[in-house]
Amino acid sequence: MTAQLIDGNALARTIRAEVTGRTQALKARGVHPHLSIILVGDDPASQVYTKHKVNDSNETGLSATLERYPADMSEADLLARVKALNVDPKVHGILVQLPLPRHMDSQKVIETISPEKDVDGFHIASAGALMTGAKGFWPCTPYGCMKMLESIGYSLRGKHAVVIGRSNIVGKPMAMMLLAQSATVTICHSATADLGAMTRQADVIVAAVGKRNVLTADMVKPGAVVIDVGMNRNDEGKLCGDVDFEGVREVAGWITPVPGGVGPMTRAMLLVNTLEAAERQSA
Ligand code: GUN
Repeated sequence: MTAQLIDGNALARTIRAEVTGRTQALKARGVHPHLSIILVGDDPASQVYTKHKVNDSNETGLSATLERYPADMSEADLLARVKALNVDPKVHGILVQLPLPRHMDSQKVIETISPEKDVDGFHIASAGALMTGAKGFWPCTPYGCMKMLESIGYSLRGKHAVVIGRSNIVGKPMAMMLLAQSATVTICHSATADLGAMTRQADVIVAAVGKRNVLTADMVKPGAVVIDVGMNRNDEGKLCGDVDFEGVREVAGWITPVPGGVGPMTRAMLLVNTLEAAERQSA
């Protein structure tokens, strides 16, 4: 069997078109959705990511500003800036790019963002909302993964999903989202003993470890849906995921590629959250 691809680029395009339409409707009411992005320091990857976020926003009619601060900015100054954005009615979404310099307490900074503007979905109130089923913001990467499952018409009801990786921004929220769709969920650690014994039972596998070849063909049940959240480099320096794509695609029923899978979906879901924030704040 050769797996069907879930094309993240194509799906992200569709989502961006929907965002563009809803943004136009908001603007017609005089509301101009705005995302404020804060970047502290000059981490090269963060510079690329934040530039993408600004461009993605502008392409869909949202406005975005990138505020850059030196790596030696004090935590107190950053908190003060976040608090100012919290009360600025022109700002609907706030994103503080991570990682922050080591002298800052990232969690404290995130908790300072108003939950109504937490478009990353990293605030403890957002996590709590997801846990309880209340209205909040879902973290963009697992939200994008759910959209990918939805796009292939996959019913999770009664299915077994295995999530590898238990981070607060992907693994744990992913598990909550799958559970809410009536799946049985197992969260594994990359150090889980006999990981293959777990994954071979799975109808859906989400790999979110950040290590190459975490999932190989022998660990996958024929026909399973495989979602690859990883972003790594192979020996040739090319972007690759956590999944041994060439091997696993021969066994899986559906698979997301890297690049062109979860990555563009994460970017698209930030736009959805920002638009949603503007809609809620102007309702
Ligand atoms: N750094 C890497 N990915 C992300 C993200 O999705 N949000 C934030 N705030 N920082 C990141």
